Amino acid sequence: MFEKLKQHWKVNGLNLALIITTFALGGSLCGYTGRKLLALTNIDKGVLWVILYILLITLLWPLAVLLVSIPLGQFSFFKKYIRRVLGRFGGGKTVDSWQLTDDSYRSKIINIAIFASGAGSNAQQIIDHFASSTTVKIALIVCNKHGAGVLNIAAGYNIPSLLIEKERFFKGDNYLPELQNHHIDFIVLAGFLWKIPEPLIKAFPKKIINIHPALLPKYGGKGMFGHFVHEAVINNAEKESGITVHYVDELYDHGEIIFQGKCAITENDTAATLSQKIHALEHRHYPCVIENLLQKQNRS
Ligand code: GRF
Repeated sequence: MFEKLKQHWKVNGLNLALIITTFALGGSLCGYTGRKLLALTNIDKGVLWVILYILLITLLWPLAVLLVSIPLGQFSFFKKYIRRVLGRFGGGKTVDSWQLTDDSYRSKIINIAIFASGAGSNAQQIIDHFASSTTVKIALIVCNKHGAGVLNIAAGYNIPSLLIEKERFFKGDNYLPELQNHHIDFIVLAGFLWKIPEPLIKAFPKKIINIHPALLPKYGGKGMFGHFVHEAVINNAEKESGITVHYVDELYDHGEIIFQGKCAITENDTAATLSQKIHALEHRHYPCVIENLLQKQNRS
């Protein structure tokens, strides 16, 4: 039931708890106020009292709920909720879905799908970072590899996961219906090795980003992933490496760069130690880069 409500209202767990609390406190407040007001009239408890009480609490309820919603940070939700309920009573134009009609509220929650095929350490950092966010929700983990660590992480956090297969991803509907069912607004690649098909890029313009474990445009392109990147960097005796967060376009590791972070390479570094340094950089920056980008996109 809670899951259904979360989906229906497009809110995360924390918001849902606050909304339910507002309903409960607002209901009690209006019941209490209704009884106090009737006590002032000296009307005996009977049928008339009950009728007046029902009328009073019906009138008081929106006010009480709106009042309680302010300290709980849910005013915007209840303002729209009450408008919607009143619209129904008044026979006015009703709305079928929060998502389609209530853009300002919907824009409060951004649903992210993380695409990952590996251990998922970046996915985990991102999930932890947004765990208590009221504006961003990790709504889906998409994975192309049976038994990948990221699937266990998703299960541990109760995040739905989708195991995809090549034929449908590249030649079918690209899993767009699933992404739409989960109301995905933004896609984060975190160790996802398949190229993103064009229809998906078109469906999510400037809404798909990737992290690459090197300073692009160097050490990018087909075949440049995981330890291959770090080995190439070490073999070329580079003095520094780093991470690149970039938009995803039709080419591997090619889209506009959003952020780069660097680390020094010492003489003793190997591909394995460099990989550790890079992972630490990724964990430190990727969740914050995502958050900043979403805020920026939301403002523009
Ligand atoms: C990261 O190094 C990322 O840069 C690359 O794939 C790796 C994924 O690692 N695209 P993990 O699965 O998040 O630990």
